[in-house]
Amino acid sequence: MATLEKLLHDRLASAFDLVAGMPTSPGVRRSKHADFQADGALALARQLGRKPRDVAADVVRVAQLDDLCTSVEISGPGFINLTVATDALASLLAEMTRDERLGIPSVAAPDTVVVDYSAPNVAKEMHVGHLRSTVIGDAVVRLLDWLGHRVIKANHLGDWGTPFGMLIEHLLDIGESEAVAELSLGDLNSFYKAARVKFDADDSFKERARQRVVALQGGDELTRRLWRLLVAASEKYFMTVYDRFDVCLTEKDFLGESFYNDMLHPLVDELDRLGLLRESDGAKVVFPVGFVNREGEPLPLIVRKRDGGFGYAATDLAAIRYRTQELEATRLLYVVGSPQRQHFEMVYEIAREAGWLRPPARAHHVGFGSILGSDGKMFRTRGGDTIKLVDLIDEAVSRAAALVEEIDQLDDAGRAEVARMVGIGALKYADLSNDRNKDYVFDWARMLSFEGNTAPYLQYARVRILSIFRQGGVTPVRDLVTLTVSEPAERALAIELLAFEGVIAEVAESLEFHRLATYLYGLAATFTTFYEKCPVLRAEDGVRDDRLALCDLTARVLARGLGLLGIGAPDRM
Ligand code: ARG
Repeated sequence: MATLEKLLHDRLASAFDLVAGMPTSPGVRRSKHADFQADGALALARQLGRKPRDVAADVVRVAQLDDLCTSVEISGPGFINLTVATDALASLLAEMTRDERLGIPSVAAPDTVVVDYSAPNVAKEMHVGHLRSTVIGDAVVRLLDWLGHRVIKANHLGDWGTPFGMLIEHLLDIGESEAVAELSLGDLNSFYKAARVKFDADDSFKERARQRVVALQGGDELTRRLWRLLVAASEKYFMTVYDRFDVCLTEKDFLGESFYNDMLHPLVDELDRLGLLRESDGAKVVFPVGFVNREGEPLPLIVRKRDGGFGYAATDLAAIRYRTQELEATRLLYVVGSPQRQHFEMVYEIAREAGWLRPPARAHHVGFGSILGSDGKMFRTRGGDTIKLVDLIDEAVSRAAALVEEIDQLDDAGRAEVARMVGIGALKYADLSNDRNKDYVFDWARMLSFEGNTAPYLQYARVRILSIFRQGGVTPVRDLVTLTVSEPAERALAIELLAFEGVIAEVAESLEFHRLATYLYGLAATFTTFYEKCPVLRAEDGVRDDRLALCDLTARVLARGLGLLGIGAPDRM
């Protein structure tokens, strides 16, 4: 890492270590009062029982910052304010223009990351919960992949379990070809509902469904074939949704629950051998350390049900073992709604106790809140039904088409492509720009607005920059050795551009994409100010190239940032 913030951090860290006699965080961050501010002296002073300003003064005395800063001052209770030298800014920025990767190298020690995401259920429509998992998971995949990690996408399709008895019976009732057509065309909800209605109303159907589950689990030839039909038809349909939504998932990534079937018996045996398995009410369970219910009693994870069947939890235990042992994953990510947090925490704990999850391997639940309607309740159709993801995609694209109707430099196909990027971008960005841990309110008008923190705003900001180049008939210069940043607005933009790497590093760890969104939005705003204050095409010769370089870098960071979020950047809008 060669970014400014990192350089300042490293230099100050050495100074802090000297003063403290132990590793100490300098606490460098951007600041309104100077370019950067370090507040590490406050915490250190508390530890040492000294005055913060004195500690800060000691740090400043030993810190080697001459080549990086023009001014290093102590302010307030003991902050260190840093003003960066223009030369340092200029050469870092010039380096960034020359770099395909915008100053962000591939990681030196790549992780093998398994990203468990999307995970819809066979013969069930993807709903808004899957929207969040799909959008967030896809951003995780794109970011970590770009950083050079080995990324394995695991689409943990719900393709097993008791509902298949009723689904297969219903398939037999309406006929194979009819059923396959209905499912492949995406009429998943009506298929599922019809099966459900019969199941609830008709006792003989219910009985047939029960026997069918037994046949399925017993490996009955015909039943297995019918089951595969259902799964294949659903997978085919889900693929059309992913394609329409610019999601990286492919057919190869379906690693459904059924994939782990054969591993379940050995899993139970192993848990037993390890002494982790307990009997409870006839079921086989594990009590992970540290989990209790409201009454303070140990909380079990059911591995094998009383009827001998395996459930969701057993499959997740088998999956985590498979991922660490067979796939050799070092980072396991589960992009699943927050209500499942405890389930995953229990799975991780058991995996740790069983020795399947050992450092450096780590598991992390990338949870998320709900999408709400304008009434603040769960987002549903007017009729109270769950909303289909495809309907949202279609509506987003058609609303976007109305917005881009007037681009006269494009033909119909070109406009349709832009509408897709804008519509899909708006939908994804509305999700990703919100703190994933919180709920958010779904709002078409807001997400498709050209103002505010939206995808269309950022896409348009980039298009405006590209049009500067078109207007001037110039191409960006990317081989500058250095460039001048003298105006305050240029400085501000330079510092903002150089902050990209720090943001990416932070998001790669926290997987909180709203931080990247906020950064891109801030960058676009900083650019706007720069463009108002500093003429580009009309600037004198030397200055013009340097400003064009700033424009070009901004456009590239915007496109890269959006791309990492799974959002396209059209060249014209
Ligand atoms: N199919 C599940 C659902 O729709 C999500 C699966 C999440 N992944 C997992 N490994 N459990 O809620």
